[in-house]
Amino acid sequence: MNATQEKATTEGSLKQVIAHAKEYGFVFPSSEIYDGLSAVYDYGPFGVELKNNLKALWWKTMTQLNDNIVGIDASIFMHPTTWKASGHVDGFSDPMIDNKDSKKRYRADVLIEEHAAKLTPEAGLALEKELARLLEADDLSGVLALIVRENIKCPVSGTANWTDVRQFNLMFSTQVGSVAEDSSTIYLRPETAQGIFVNFLNVQKSARMKVPFGIAQIGKAFRNEIVARQFIFRMREFEQMEMQFFVRPGEEMTWYQHWKATRLNWHKALGIPENKLRFHDHEKLAHYANAAVDIEFEFPFGFKEIEGIHSRTDFDLKSHQEYSGKKQQYFDSEINQNYVPYVVETSVGADRLFLMTLCNAYTEELVGEGEQQKLRTYLKLNPAVAPIKAAIFPVTKKDGLPEKARLIFDDLRLDMKVIYEEKDNIGKRYARQDLIGTPFCIAVDYQSLEDDTVTIRYRDSTLQERIAIKDLKAKLMAETSFNTILSKL
Ligand code: GAP
Repeated sequence: MNATQEKATTEGSLKQVIAHAKEYGFVFPSSEIYDGLSAVYDYGPFGVELKNNLKALWWKTMTQLNDNIVGIDASIFMHPTTWKASGHVDGFSDPMIDNKDSKKRYRADVLIEEHAAKLTPEAGLALEKELARLLEADDLSGVLALIVRENIKCPVSGTANWTDVRQFNLMFSTQVGSVAEDSSTIYLRPETAQGIFVNFLNVQKSARMKVPFGIAQIGKAFRNEIVARQFIFRMREFEQMEMQFFVRPGEEMTWYQHWKATRLNWHKALGIPENKLRFHDHEKLAHYANAAVDIEFEFPFGFKEIEGIHSRTDFDLKSHQEYSGKKQQYFDSEINQNYVPYVVETSVGADRLFLMTLCNAYTEELVGEGEQQKLRTYLKLNPAVAPIKAAIFPVTKKDGLPEKARLIFDDLRLDMKVIYEEKDNIGKRYARQDLIGTPFCIAVDYQSLEDDTVTIRYRDSTLQERIAIKDLKAKLMAETSFNTILSKL
């Protein structure tokens, strides 16, 4: 298979996931009736359930399994000085370049990286190193020179008629205040982390936390991404799940290693195969970090970041101390010392986690023999995060079967998300549930009226077995519980 063919296949499979997500109620383009809004998406009925389950799993892992981690929910809007102190006003930008013929805008570094990927591994690596050096030195004309030297062309116009490379700040700004003269510019937060930093002392004091301790948060973040591509992988409005872990200065590397291993293990416990996950150390460190690593997943478009683990030093707290004039120190009674804690951060995007889960679950299998052979598509989702835990079907719409099935449904719905369906033949109903990843289907038949048993059908194997109705709930609860994942951590 040559490179072009290989690309067509991988893009094809992301296309399948996107089409599946739309068709079966997981993800829709935002405001689609107006042709959508670039890099903004909405979650549908099954998507929101899956996403909520993933967020709840992360939240439980952080705040319930760790007795030294507590949660907060900070506002999206923050005092504008926050972003000056954090370095985002001056430094949170990407190098961009426009093609004068197509009028298309690109991230200059991405253009070069994509070109590097087409070269031999040695030449590609050398080019990436050259790029990293230029970016490190903030040498934008050097980046342009590299694009010209490599004769990189615009994929749309096919020309190399480029503008200069400029820095483009990724923060969205808006005005707060109703009267124009009194209004001031504020930003939509580009990361949730700063809401944690500015609340460090509030949380430490009110919840009587002792270093080392962590603060976890789930919330929206916004970035005016130049290149918005690959579905929900890179969006302009997205959700982050971040945890800042405050430690004694000098102990940050031990904790950095701890959180690296712990977070990788979490993704494995969720059911992501080990060979589809890897670490990628940052060559170029952010202004606040003394070590940083990405956890990457092998998406249909290659290995890409899903989570970042960053040793952020005392940069943020010290900077807030300086800009606010308020001490951000902690008195450590064990060693009788005051200090500004160091921070190790774990930061995973809820949407990327969702995309990874969906890509990993999407399964196509040929079933049957000869002329009867057909393609079966289903989502092999971990039952604990599946949008619907079980579907309850009476095999016919008469003879008291719907009533019996309804009784089971009404009992189960108190404890889990279940669906009741009586329309269409049972094969079609099974297929519909397979497509949204429902792990169990329960059929109520004539035998159920006689002996209070039902059949349970397993999504992945499609095998069926009989089970007493009295044992059904306990079985479903055990098999769909978060404990099946949490107990592996
Ligand atoms: N507080 C550190 C921080 O924000 P980051 O590596 O820029 O670090 C962390 O982002 C995570 O947030 C990423 O690993 C990714 O999962 C998610 N993320 C970042 N930008 C995103 C975007 N434009 N769309 C979707 N998810 C994004």
